[in-house]
Amino acid sequence: MGRMTGKVALITGAASGLGKADAFRLSEEGATVVLTDIDKAGQAVAKEISSATGNPTRFYQHDVTDGARWQEIIDAVEAEFGGLDVLVNNAGIALVATIEDTTLEQFRLSNAIMNEGVFLGCKTAIPAMKRRGGGSIINMSSVASHLGYPVFFAYSAAKGAVRSMTKTIAIHCQMNGYKIRCNSIHAGAIDTPMVRASFGTLGMDVPDPDSPDAANTVGIGRPVDVANLVLYLASDESRFMNGTELMLDNALTIQ
Ligand SMILES: NC(=O)c1ccc[n+]([C@@H]2O[C@H](COP(=O)([O-])OP(=O)(O)OC[C@H]3O[C@@H](n4cnc5c(N)ncnc54)[C@H](O)[C@@H]3O)[C@@H](O)[C@H]2O)c1
Repeated sequence: MGRMTGKVALITGAASGLGKADAFRLSEEGATVVLTDIDKAGQAVAKEISSATGNPTRFYQHDVTDGARWQEIIDAVEAEFGGLDVLVNNAGIALVATIEDTTLEQFRLSNAIMNEGVFLGCKTAIPAMKRRGGGSIINMSSVASHLGYPVFFAYSAAKGAVRSMTKTIAIHCQMNGYKIRCNSIHAGAIDTPMVRASFGTLGMDVPDPDSPDAANTVGIGRPVDVANLVLYLASDESRFMNGTELMLDNALTIQ
């Protein structure tokens, strides 16, 4: 028996980086994992994971800003697998631009994916989780919801919205007896394509995750560091963890 045996989990933005690592980790522990992404590369990722773990996976191409497609996918998941236990709202983009450089179009796109996309995911998943008798929603926020990062203006604004949205959902579900928990993860820098691209734009070297140097003692995490926390929040081991913001940042935000 794995820690996720019998559970069905849907992960957005699962073709790459953290979403891919989450999908792998939950599948290793016995979950049926539904991967979605705007990028069709998620199809090959789903196959790679099921070949490695022997557990079922599915891939649906999905832009998280598309509410009708959210409903289609969750309906299909319920029809095929009998219900939905876990939603990981992970899809995101990182625009490197200050308040002075960000256009309205860029701000709206960032907000549409990382704020409205999370709203649509939660709103569509909650009725399915109610039918299932409970569930766990995990929203990817960031340390950017706590710290001031001038060059990540639109990104930080969206992640701040995710931080507070998570708490209202947790309380709403608890007050109504839904047995649906909702928590947010606030990671520091983790070595993914998004972070490598952002560091590149800023002309910074990506630190080695295994050996933080004297000038960068916080260092950088690995995707599996996030995936292990997602696994805990997705499983029943975290049954008393609700509405919480979990910092996963090697003490960055307390310095
Ligand atoms: N890597 C980090 O250091 C870090 C830190 C804190 C939070 N996060 C958050 O974790 C999440 C994953 O980040 P990552 O580093 O793995 O990035 P990534 O770029 O490697 O992966 C993001 C995935 O989201 C997908 N995506 C983008 N727009 C989409 C859309 N409209 N609909 C569906 N899918 C879409 C991309 O195709 C990609 O596969 C993001 O929400 C990010 O903000 C990352």
